[in-house]
Amino acid sequence: MAAVDSCLREHLSSEVALVSQVSEYIISSGGKRLRPALLLLAARACDYRGPHAPVLAAVVELIHTATLLHDDVVDESALRRGRATANAMFGNAASVLVGDFLYSRSFQMMVTVDNMRILRIISDATNVIAEGEVLQLLNCGNADLDESRYLEVIRRKTAKLFEAAMRIGGVLGGAGAATEEALANYGVHVGTAFQLIDDVLDYSGEHADIGKNLGDDLAEGKATLPLIRAMQVAKPGDAALLRRAIVEARIDEFGPVMEIIRGTDAIAYARACAGEEAQLASAQLAHLGSSKYRDALLELALFAVERTH
Ligand code: IPE
Ligand code: IPE
Ligand code: MG
Ligand code: MG
Repeated sequence: MAAVDSCLREHLSSEVALVSQVSEYIISSGGKRLRPALLLLAARACDYRGPHAPVLAAVVELIHTATLLHDDVVDESALRRGRATANAMFGNAASVLVGDFLYSRSFQMMVTVDNMRILRIISDATNVIAEGEVLQLLNCGNADLDESRYLEVIRRKTAKLFEAAMRIGGVLGGAGAATEEALANYGVHVGTAFQLIDDVLDYSGEHADIGKNLGDDLAEGKATLPLIRAMQVAKPGDAALLRRAIVEARIDEFGPVMEIIRGTDAIAYARACAGEEAQLASAQLAHLGSSKYRDALLELALFAVERTH
């Protein structure tokens, strides 16, 4: 992970001062660095010890970072990683454009590995993520969004990069087709669990722990699983208030919305769904020989569900 971090820093420099300034700002604010950790663990679990893992892990983190810069503009978010978002600090234009810089820098880095299989995995994933974000945009203000279409969005916007990170680890390690598929499926399920919990924390987290503002999803009229479930099980009058809050993106109703959610099993339900995803993820690891890397992957599946940040 230290090698990943120095690789990230090494590649942020630009002759254009604002580019370095904004990218340093977001990269140095930390983050859990979960996706690069998955890539390294998958590679090690397949006995890979060559030089390409840290640079590809840095590529995956840069793509994640670019999506965050763009996502915070789209979501009009003000806080990330316990700091003002880049859009709040430097403006929307700078965030969008530096996001593009990070994407294209990640392309420059990934071609140095000179592996067509890996290039295909990353370019496909990046494209699917973009589709996921657009799909989500189309769903904003839709109180009729059902669980399966919600899951489709999160598989694309979040799980796809987890899947790619794991698959790349397998490719580096020369894993056979079955093992590579198992690693990729682990990524899909952990990524899904991870976003389910992100959506839970948007209603039930501690501001100081998550380093983001609660209620960002409601502010955007985004129906996530806690709300979708609450609309199904709440009393008709309460369900109508939730619907209106989504359709009209009523962040000013966050208090009443929270109260209704708390009166239902919605948070527990979404957590249980995340738990099931984590179980499915763990089951995939039976394909690997036992190692401390596999144990760490098992632990990360639990972390995705139990995390508070
Ligand atoms: C935030 O991801 C965006 C989601 C997919 C939920 P992380 O929670 O991994 O963000 P950082 O990198 O740790 O800040
Ligand atoms: C994740 O969705 C965004 C991406 C995968 C780019 P969110 O919008 O819920 O992420 P946060 O909560 O802003 O981190
Ligand atoms: Mg967001
Ligand atoms: Mg969120």
